[in-house]
Amino acid sequence: MRLREPENFKNLVGGRGKGYEGGAMPTVPRLIVATRNPHKSLEIRAMLGAGWEVLDANDFPEFPVIEETGDTFLENARLKAEGISRLVAGWVLADDSGLEVDALGGKPGVWSSSFGGEEGNHAKNNAHLITAMRGQSLRSARFLCTMVLANAGIAQADFCGTVEGTLTDAPQGEGGFGYDPLFIPAGYQQTFAELGQDVKNRLSHRALALTQAISWLTAPPEKLV
Ligand code: IMP
Repeated sequence: MRLREPENFKNLVGGRGKGYEGGAMPTVPRLIVATRNPHKSLEIRAMLGAGWEVLDANDFPEFPVIEETGDTFLENARLKAEGISRLVAGWVLADDSGLEVDALGGKPGVWSSSFGGEEGNHAKNNAHLITAMRGQSLRSARFLCTMVLANAGIAQADFCGTVEGTLTDAPQGEGGFGYDPLFIPAGYQQTFAELGQDVKNRLSHRALALTQAISWLTAPPEKLV
């Protein structure tokens, strides 16, 4: 879904933001990923290739932490994208993601990272999910990722990636992070943690959203106006 079309394709070129003061203008467009998680920006850099300069919040230590106070993935991604893009020139990409479990009425959803009671504690989150799902025959779940692209403090477009699957009743595999050891994507017999990063990066909610965002960013200007 598009929130708004860019008014001017020239906006795609980085401008005089951080790193360019007094220096030469960049020759490639710049994308700032509103995350301090280097894995996310590495993945995005690899997908965009040499035609883009990809930075993240680690390149801007002065960036504040944007509170995720929204009730939806879209609200949170938009808060982060708009908040950071008010502070820096160029395109800003933010994402928000989580797990929806049908038997739990869609929980943990936007609260996925604190489901076990402690923000970012994946072991506690997984233990809590295993307990909540004990004895449940309905095992369907999905990972969702919403990405928002913003420029000059205004969200311009958003993209959603979803991967359907089922939950195991005990962790399987060592790879990935978060709920990966409990999630078997549809069409597979192993969890994301067992399938490994290459397979996950082809199927994942984040990869699907990112593919759309990259297509949008790299579309010829005549398609954007
Ligand atoms: P965030 O979008 O990085 O803030 O992720 C929110 C939370 O959702 C994470 O802390 C994980 O608990 C869960 N999550 C999001 N994406 C994944 C994934 O790809 N694998 C496993 N857990 C995930």
